[in-house]
Amino acid sequence: MLKHSTTSTAEFKQDQAPAETVSVLLDGEKVDLPKGISIAAGLLSIGEIISRISPSAHKPRSPHCLMGVCYECLMEIDGVERQACMTDPEEGMVINRHLDSKGEDA
Ligand code: FES
Repeated sequence: MLKHSTTSTAEFKQDQAPAETVSVLLDGEKVDLPKGISIAAGLLSIGEIISRISPSAHKPRSPHCLMGVCYECLMEIDGVERQACMTDPEEGMVINRHLDSKGEDA
């Protein structure tokens, strides 16, 4: 029997501060992400679980595969739509998730 779990954001958060961080601008606000892991993993580690709004269902989505397959982590990174799970954060990056968007047809 397949069991489902309800994972809270608290389970994604790190229990201690990362050794090194980089500062990025996330949706207009400065945040510090751990260095050495992808943007998607870094956002999950600070409790930011929403990566985008689905253009078809207009509902929030979260990173799923974390290995470049599902495209649920697409966000605008330095002006280009990229997979956040395949991109490491760099100091000063500008990341926009378009969370207030109604999707591509808005
Ligand atoms: S989380 Fe699946 S492609 Fe990034």
